[in-house]
Parts: sequence; C-alpha cells; structure tokens
Amino acid sequence: MIRIIEAKDYKDMSRKAANIISAQVILKPNCVLGLATGSSPIGTYDQLVEWYEKGDLDFSGVSSVNLDEYRGLDRENDQSYYYFMHKNLFDRVNIDPARTNVPDGTEPDAEKECARYEALIDSMGGVDLQLLGLGHNGHIGFNEPAPVFPKTTHCVDLTESTIEANKRFFASADDVPKQAYTMGIGTIMKAKKILLVVSGADKADIVAKAFFGEVTPEVPASILQMHGDVTLVADEAALSKIPR
Ligand code: F6R
Repeated sequence: MIRIIEAKDYKDMSRKAANIISAQVILKPNCVLGLATGSSPIGTYDQLVEWYEKGDLDFSGVSSVNLDEYRGLDRENDQSYYYFMHKNLFDRVNIDPARTNVPDGTEPDAEKECARYEALIDSMGGVDLQLLGLGHNGHIGFNEPAPVFPKTTHCVDLTESTIEANKRFFASADDVPKQAYTMGIGTIMKAKKILLVVSGADKADIVAKAFFGEVTPEVPASILQMHGDVTLVADEAALSKIPR
C-alpha cells in the first residue's frame, strides 16, 4: 500500500517530506536515516537545515546510510555522493560525521565493500526511514531495470545513457565513473519506512507505471507496492497521470 501525499510544487513537496523526516527524528532521536542524492531531495535537505538553524531539529543522535556511490571516485571529488551529502546536509547540521555512512567508492574490492556495507546497515539495526528519488525508467538507488530484483548491496555497471547524461559534470567522458556501489532492492525493502520524493511532469508516466502498474523488475520501484509503509510525496505535475 502506498500512501500518496499531493504537493503543489517542488517547494511544497520538499516541505512536506522534511516534515515527515523531522517527525521521525523527533520520535526517535537516535534513528537511522537512509539518504539519497540527486535533484529531488535537495529542497528537503534545505528545509531540514532551516529548521535545524531555527533550533527546531537536533541531529546529534541520528545515524545515516546513503543509498549509493560511484566506484572509483574519492571523497574530495565534487561529483562523489560523499561530497554531495556533506555539501547539502551533513556540513550544515549537527549530525556526527562519524555516524554518517556512504559506500566507499575508493575500495577497489567490490565484493568486500558491498558485504561490509550490507553488514553495517544490519549492525545499525536497519534503516528506520529511507528517503528515495525515482529515476525516469523506474530506478531506485542504482537499481536499473533488470530481469530480476537485485537483493543486497552490489556493484553495478552504469548504462551508456547514464554515462552519457553524467558526461557534462566531468572533464571528459573517460572521467565518468563506469560503475557504482548501490544498496539492493532487498536492502531498500528492509527499511521500516520509505519516503519517496518525486516532482515534475517528466516523472508523471513513471509514477503511474511504478505505483499503479504491474510489479516487475523491469520497473524497479514497482516493488515498493509490496512494502508495508511507503509514503510518496509528489507534486501535482508528477501525479498528473495516476488513475483517480
Ligand atoms: C540518488 C539515487 C537515484 C536518484 C534518481 C532520481 O542517490 O540513487 O536513484 O534518486 O536518479 O534522480 P533525480 O532526483 O535527480 O531526478
């Protein structure tokens, strides 16, 4: 069952999502937040920072685990998800940096890093609230359409279209990472609660397909229909094609 919360626009979506995250932090100050990068959650992070600055939110007991990271990028690289998280959230609130976790893109042994990350999440007691964005093809994390749902944290080969789309952020196409470490669908499904933020008319087709269509690994986010506690916060444009 997916609970759908309709927002007017990106700002309204961000405020509503931040409200849900802040409720989680207030209810359980030592909670584990699962976090995402991309353009969708930036407004949510900005709103959380604003409330933190006003003294309404305290992240001192919170731990976090991020969904994914490019393989081969170090922390100082401004395209790494580590860098993104510090810039957009961690460096702006009082979360303990030692309690924030992003897969280590510099670990060359993929099997070792993925097993370490999966075990780390389990050792933290699992994710209380996982924040997700939605890709145009239904991907969540770096779990792209595939014949089966990948279960645990694993290493993925980025598709040509993803490499092509990311090229503009790098000096040349050769500098674009070709692989990433990502939580699996099974890892994501183990989160106690899931919060998805989606905005824009360009996501309307995939929102309808993922949440009102068939559950299939060809649309990875469709698996969320089987999770017991999913909240989708989306703006009017992104919800414009769902059955009413
Ligand atoms: C981010 C991630 C991706 C994005 C998705 C949507 O950590 O894993 O799955 O959530 O690509 O990206 P945006 O929000 O930029 O549309």
